[in-house]
Amino acid sequence: MKKAVIPAAGLGTRMLPATKTVPKEMLPIVDKPAIQYIIEEAVASGIEDILIVSNRSKHAMDDYFDYSPELEELLKRSGKIAEYEAVRDVADKANIFYVRQKETKGLGHAVWRAKRFVGDEPFAVLLGDDIMMGKTPVTKQLIDAAEQYEASAVGIQRVASEAISKYSSVLISELEERIYRVSDMNEKPKPDQAFSEFAILGRYILTAEIFSILENTPPGYGGEIQLTDGLQRLCKVSPMVAVDFDAKRYDTGNLEGFLEATIDYALQDPRVGDWLKGFMSDKLKEI
Ligand code: UTP
Repeated sequence: MKKAVIPAAGLGTRMLPATKTVPKEMLPIVDKPAIQYIIEEAVASGIEDILIVSNRSKHAMDDYFDYSPELEELLKRSGKIAEYEAVRDVADKANIFYVRQKETKGLGHAVWRAKRFVGDEPFAVLLGDDIMMGKTPVTKQLIDAAEQYEASAVGIQRVASEAISKYSSVLISELEERIYRVSDMNEKPKPDQAFSEFAILGRYILTAEIFSILENTPPGYGGEIQLTDGLQRLCKVSPMVAVDFDAKRYDTGNLEGFLEATIDYALQDPRVGDWLKGFMSDKLKEI
């Protein structure tokens, strides 16, 4: 599988006021924008062509993945070779394409905008604000399961029962350890309507059948075209598996998730990890 789609056209209202002018995908987790972690996961999973679904206020993303000749020249001239390489490397990670979602009509509509880019091949979807920290890239875990079962795939994890109404719940039966067959799902269920405590979290492998389904999917929860409504129909007409993926997931589109990701990545960073541990333990004594 060589193609991936990153829907990144949401308004990011949970991270206002910063996201008034800075796309939430460009908010830094330590010293890299959130979307860079997602592109790195895709590339580490074997993806070569990436479509970012963007909107008219997100130019900063396009610029970030372009060359920056003046800056690069300056860094080279002043002997800052590591910085030069870091800046250049960002632009050479993958073939990155863009399409605009001209109206914010929901995640399902954003994915549908990828139809021309994808053609007939299966493709990966990585949500622009969900970062995964783990050994094997989550997209790779899903690609392996999708190929093994000749199916589409969704990434799932168990969430607290009171939290399921923030996500989509899935009706599943076990195929093997951590891999399940999906037979139904619902978007943001009330706790007593959830199919299970397993929620779909930010990663998908889809077949091109999804496009004709999304074209005929009416607006659902919140008046938006929901990807879950499309996936619900997809799992009824062709095989779908769910992978209970092995990684920690951060929703950097809300304040708690953003702070958790920032702290966890900083703790693992050899440049600041030990310093942060000391700082935090001093802080904890104060409170
Ligand atoms: P979210 O609901 O997390 O993003 O959508 P949002 O709409 O930006 O969030 P808030 O509630 O206003 O803070 C999940 C993913 O779908 C994308 C988002 O960019 C995010 O990656 N999305 C959502 C689109 O691309 N287009 C849409 O119309 C809606």
